[in-house]
This record gives sequence, structure tokens and C-alpha cells, in this order.
Amino acid sequence: MNQKKGPTKITCAIIALSCLFAYLSCNTGSSSYNHTTWSQYGGGPDQSKYFDAAEITRQNVSKLQVAWSYSTEDNIPYMFQPIVADTTMYVYGKNSSIIALSIVTGKEIWIHTNLQGLSRRGLNYWESKNGKDKRLVFTLNNSLQEIDAITGKSIKKFGDSGYVDMRAGLERDPTSIRRMQAMTPGVIYNDLIILGSAPGEGYFSPPGYIRAYNIVTGKLEWTFHTLPQPGEFGYDTWPKDAYKYVGGVNVWSEMSVDESRGIVFLPLGSPTYDYYGADRLGSNLFGNSLVALDARTGKRIWHYQTVHHDIWDYDLSAAPQLLTVNRDGKKIDAVAIATKHGFVFVFNRENGEPVFPIEEKPFPASEMPGEMAWPTQPVPSLPSFTRHEVTKETLNPFFPDSIKQKWFKRLDSAKSGLYVPPSDKYETIMMPGALGGANYGNTACDPKNGIMYILTQEYASIYKLNKVVPPKIDLSENDLNKVKIFYTANCQSCHGDKLQGLVGPSLVNIGQRVFYDEFKNIVQNGRGRMPGLIHVDEQTLSSLFRYMGGIPRSFNFPGRRGDNKKATGPIVDSGGARIKPDASKGTPMSEYPEGVSHPENRYTTDYGTEWMGLAAPPWSSILAYDLNNGTIKWRMPIGEDSAYVKGDKSKGAPAGALRKGMVITSTGVVFATAKGGKLYAFDADTGKILWETTLSNEVQGQPTMYTYKGKQYLVVNASANFSPDSYNHSIKPGAMKKGYVVYALPEKK
Ligand code: HEC
Repeated sequence: MNQKKGPTKITCAIIALSCLFAYLSCNTGSSSYNHTTWSQYGGGPDQSKYFDAAEITRQNVSKLQVAWSYSTEDNIPYMFQPIVADTTMYVYGKNSSIIALSIVTGKEIWIHTNLQGLSRRGLNYWESKNGKDKRLVFTLNNSLQEIDAITGKSIKKFGDSGYVDMRAGLERDPTSIRRMQAMTPGVIYNDLIILGSAPGEGYFSPPGYIRAYNIVTGKLEWTFHTLPQPGEFGYDTWPKDAYKYVGGVNVWSEMSVDESRGIVFLPLGSPTYDYYGADRLGSNLFGNSLVALDARTGKRIWHYQTVHHDIWDYDLSAAPQLLTVNRDGKKIDAVAIATKHGFVFVFNRENGEPVFPIEEKPFPASEMPGEMAWPTQPVPSLPSFTRHEVTKETLNPFFPDSIKQKWFKRLDSAKSGLYVPPSDKYETIMMPGALGGANYGNTACDPKNGIMYILTQEYASIYKLNKVVPPKIDLSENDLNKVKIFYTANCQSCHGDKLQGLVGPSLVNIGQRVFYDEFKNIVQNGRGRMPGLIHVDEQTLSSLFRYMGGIPRSFNFPGRRGDNKKATGPIVDSGGARIKPDASKGTPMSEYPEGVSHPENRYTTDYGTEWMGLAAPPWSSILAYDLNNGTIKWRMPIGEDSAYVKGDKSKGAPAGALRKGMVITSTGVVFATAKGGKLYAFDADTGKILWETTLSNEVQGQPTMYTYKGKQYLVVNASANFSPDSYNHSIKPGAMKKGYVVYALPEKK
């Protein structure tokens, strides 16, 4: 406000009135965010995936056609969600490049190439109040970086010569942290980028503190200890030393911001280790909690724990949805969260009061040594959107008889049901399992009308705990002698006679911490002050790796390596900010700290996701949850579910909602992607399919919407390979190349 004189009575009245209007609009709208742009991951800070535009309607949606497309020109899948600012769209493709495209023609404006290790699911756009400073904000491996949105060049004034090391400030030696970057890009509030992390899910992973950095300077503005330190709220829900060795409790997925209130909502993950918690007895705040923080300061406002002492890997992961619900004529600005195990929790956004009742119900105790499953768990009164057990009666009916018989046997000795604790005596079949229910990208809403949309998949996981035993060196005596001689001659001077580390870091059990391909690369090409040994043969390398506790196996990580052809086009920069190498490299924590009492044994299980379509289909659905009255308004199976496909029931392949997404329009159309290259448009009121198409390549990542001069566009990322259990539409005549496909209505003649 331009006010030269002191305030008069009239201006005071105007201020009071405008405050009143602001207050009123707060209570009718959901957040100050206006849903007409898609400049952040998830659409905007509220992650609603809701878009306000008039052109595409229920009546004309079936006329959508491809307006333009952009080929990623790579063989690797991208889960990337494009974002749009002004007339530019930012996508990922071409040998890990960020590419700026014209939103009208799809023409390349600039390319910043060689960004191997970019947060694969997306990035965010920020601009200064005067609109002159425009930046793309993203993480690259373990650093936070920025690119000038206009020129495409790295911003070197940001942080430390262009980057911020996110490994610092986690109560661990930063150089001992191998990975903590999340694949989702965080959320922007004013001049802050609020970031989660993915520090690993094994024993002794670093803690997943939430941090906010200044977008202009890179300065760390606040940290929220998701694992409370001594003296902090929640510390007494853990053993006294747990904060020294427990990790996780991170947001690897999506946070939502209520801009008008300045609140950030965190869906927090499980503490480590995910499936055996004898070294973390207690309810374990803020594990699996929805936490509301003051976005300016990082101070906690309220929290709600959805799973106490989690031993099932039921991370909260899908973005909390901010919507206004109408309960008995009263409007409540609510926040709703959908979980991996099929529950919806709804709270008053400001004070955390449940909008629908939640009851603590008793569940079975654990039989594992030292473990104490929490005696009760919160169960919302709202209907669950998934099944919770697999029985003989609900087994996949498309299994051939021989397989059915095997499963009947297995089910006889296994336990299945909600919150059955994992055991080393029998298999535990969780329904849904670690990949089930609502995962990242799987929630959206109509913020004003109280409707939440959920993509869900009902995959089971089968767990069985095994005692962790020290790795056996799997080498013959002859090979062991040979490798010891080789090690003494070539490595010992720097890594010590017992692998304990001297000039170089400890190599004790390095085989369990790095992948074999990376190990080979280090030994052959050197790293930092370590010289390379080009002429080591494969046999020696593999013996060395076994000697260091590993099992040589090759993994091919898409998107991590520059294994694609070079990008061509208007390249303006390459590689992001240059990161200074660490002089020393600490060893990742692999034991309890000195003097800490802890359980005798550690146990682990694998994720147990090998039998994903164990129960009868449908394995994946979209549903509209009416949070005004707490009912599921409609529900539709989605995806190419081979068991449903005529004439080919043999495969029994599950359809997946994982890595799929939605766009909700103000005209009542719900767009959703699903396995098999599917894109659907549903009627938001009835769930009726208004339009359906199949893309030439598998769809991945979240779709995006934007307008240009009133024309409305839908962008779908179709850059992935079809899995072997889908039809391969990419070999059909006239199939499109992998890439981003943009739909619009035909031009009016
Ligand atoms: C001249 C000293 C030197 C020699 C000789 C040497 N290294 Fe290293 N090594 C280092 C240093 C220093 C590092 C840390 C490099 C960095 O990350 O900056 C390192 C790192 C490593 C790493 C990565 C460790 C981690 O935690 O990521 C491995 C694996 C490794 N060395 C294996 C070997 C093997 C096997 C040999 C013998 C064939 C060997 N090194 C010989 C100095 C040496």
C-alpha cells in the first residue's frame, strides 16, 4: 500500500475491511494459491493437482488430440513431471538434461546437459517479487542447486559457488553420508525451499531432518528434527540414545504448503530399521506422523502419528491434501492424508483436531526377541480404500491350479491381516504392502468442494525376518591368498592392513555399501587422491569385492549414469555447479556407537514384493472420496490389467498406480494415468469414463496442465518402457517416440 501520510480513520477502516475480506476468502477458498499455473511439482505449493480453466469440459474432453510432442531421445525412463512458467515448459530428457521448451510449439529454447543425479521426479520454479529473478530450484545428487530459468545457466552466486551440500547438519560426519537426496524436489514457500531427503532405510541410516534453505542465498534457515534430540518434544518416545543411531523419519515424497496460513505439512516416513524395532522401543515420534510446521520458522504447530512404532514400512508418502469440507453446515479448512495401508485421516488444518473420529484399536503383540509392537493403532472411522488381508478365498483366481495349490500351502503357515507383526518363524502377508495403497503422486483434490481423489494399488508384501550375520567371505583359500597378495601390494599403503583405513577411508564391508559397478569404476579409474589401476582383470576385481564383504552383481540404474547419447540442440551449460571433492571420505555408520546398550541381534527382511498380484483383481483403482460426509463417492479400476483383457488371462499381471498421477479440472474432469500407457478422463461427479486413450510408451510421473491464450493443454510423460506383462504399444505402426505428449482440443474452424 502506498501510504505517505499517517493512517487516517478511513484507511484504518479500509485495512479492517480488507482484512475481513481476506479472512472471508480464506474460509471459502482453501489456500491463497489460485490454481491457474503449474510452476511447481504437484501443480502448486498445495499439491492439489487442481487446475482452474474453462476450455476443456466434460462435453468436449473426448475430442482431445495430440497438439505437439517432444522426444526425450533416450532409452532411459524419466519419472519427471514437467513444469510451466510464463511461456516456457521445463522438462528432463536427452542424457539427463533440463530442457526449456516453448509451450506453444515445443521448440527447444535452451538445454543444460549432463545433470546426472537430478531429482528424477521433478523440480520447482521460483521468481522474485519484482519478477526479474527467475530460477529453477532442484537437487543434484546430495547438493541443492539452481539454474537461471531464462538463460539456462547455473547460478554460481547461490550457496558455495553454486551449490549447498545437504549432507551437512545431520548429526553424522557429512563425508560418511553416501546418499540422502530425495527424488522429489521439495516445496517452495516465499523465498524458502523446504526439502526432505531419502537417507536410506537400512540400520544406521542418517536422520531425515527437514530443512529450509533461502532460495536467493542458499543459507540454511531452519531445521526440524524429525528424530527429537534430548530435551525436545517427542524425545521420550524413544530409548535415550536412539537419536545417535536411528535414522529415517524422512519425507522422501511430497510436502504441501498452505500459503495463506504459512503452514507446511510433512508426511513422514518410518524410522530405521523398517521391520524390526527392538532398538527403538516406544511410539517413535515423529515417525509415520503428519506434522504441521510454521513454514517460516520450522516450529511444530501440531502432529498426528498414523502408525505407532512402525514395523511395516508404512511411510506416509502421498501429498497431504488441503481442502475445505462442509460438516453439518460448518466449513472446516482441513488437511487429509491417504496412507499406504488404505486409510484416510482428516484433520482441522490449524489445530490438528480430527474431523472424523479415530479410534485406537488393539493389535497383536510381536513374538520377536526384544521387540514390542505398540499395543494399539489408530483406525479412522472413514471407510478404508484397500483390503487388509489375503486369504484362500481372495487369492488371485487367475492363477493356474498348480500355483494356486502352492499358495494354499503357503497361506496355511503364513499370517495375514492388519498390523500382524513380522516374524522369523512364519511369513507375514501385508495387504497392501510396502508398495501398496496411496503412494507418492497418488492424491489430488478439489479444494473447495471437499473431494479427495486417490489412486491406489493393492499389492501384497510378504515379510520374513532373518538374523543379520556378519558377511562370509565367499572365496576359496587359493583365491583368498591371491587377493591378499594383490591387496598388500596395491591398496594396503592407503587403506591399512586390516582394511581399516589410513590415507583412504575404511574398506571394511565396503562391498555392502557400494554397488559392484561403482567399486570397479573406483578401482579402475581412481577417485580423488586415489590413483586408478586400469589393468586389473575382472577375476581380481570380483575377488577383491568379495574380500570386502560384497557379492559382485551388476545393476543398471537408469538416469544415474551418462549411458546415453550426447544431447544436441541449443546447449547453454553442462553439469550444473562444480562440486568440490571431499578430501577425506568417512565410513558410513555400521555399528552402534560405543557405550550404547542395544539388542543382541539385528534382523532384516527383503521387501517381499515378488507376488504383487496375489489377491484377486482389481489391483489398482481411482476413487473419489467425499470428505464432507466421509463416503467413497465412486471407484473405478484403472490400468491395463491383463487378467481383465479378453483372451489373455494367462499372465494375471497387476496394473499399477505407482508413479502415476492425476489432474483435476475446475470443469469437473479428472485425468488420470495408469499402467499400460493409459490416460483416462473421468466425470468428477460420477466416475464415468468420458475419454480414454493409450499412449505409444509407458506413462510415468505426474501429468501437467497449462493454458496459453485461453487454450488448455495437458502434458503426459510417456518416456518409459512397457513392462513385460503389458502389451508393447511402441511397436505398433505409427507409434510415437518416447517423450512428453501434449494434448489440446482441435483449433476451432
Ligand atoms: C594412494 C592411496 C590409495 C591407494 C593406493 C588406494 N586407494 Fe582407494 N582410496 C584412496 C582415497 C584417498 C579414497 C577416497 C577418495 C575420495 O572419495 O575422494 C579412496 C577410496 C576408495 C574406495 C571408495 C570408498 C568409499 O567409501 O566410497 C574404494 C572402494 C577404494 N578406495 C578401493 C581401493 C582398492 C581396492 C585399492 C587397491 C586396488 C585402493 N583403493 C588403493 C586412496 C587410495
